[in-house]
Amino acid sequence: MRTSALLVAVLAGLPAIAAAQGSNPSLGRDLAAGCAHCHGTDGISAGVTESLAGRRAEQIVQTVKEFREGKKPATIMHQISKGYTDAQIAAIAAYFAAQKPAK
Ligand code: HEC
Repeated sequence: MRTSALLVAVLAGLPAIAAAQGSNPSLGRDLAAGCAHCHGTDGISAGVTESLAGRRAEQIVQTVKEFREGKKPATIMHQISKGYTDAQIAAIAAYFAAQKPAK
């Protein structure tokens, strides 16, 4: 009983969280931090994974959606891309597009 009441309370709070995110100007940056492990801080990769900084936002959005839909072969991105909504991908892409590309 207690658990289900808690669950209801949490679920009821979700739309409020989503609405709050919509007006959060740093949403793109916050979400993009989840890509930093592999694509580097601010999208400048230090390793083998592609840098995303300075890329066109539309190109990032399209590629991530192709991963999500299984149209583009991937080792990991097909899984990661499924964890984001279209709006979140757009926010992440806009953030990376606004970063200075690696030299
Ligand atoms: C666990 C490591 C990892 C994380 C985290 C990660 N990626 Fe990737 N990403 C990769 C790898 C590896 C590739 C190459 C494709 C593959 O094998 O899946 C890739 C490829 C890409 C590409 C295509 C690059 C190109 O031009 O070939 C884009 C765009 C991309 N990732 C976006 C993102 C975004 C946006 C996030 C955060 C939401 C993210 N990735 C998080 C590992 C990661």
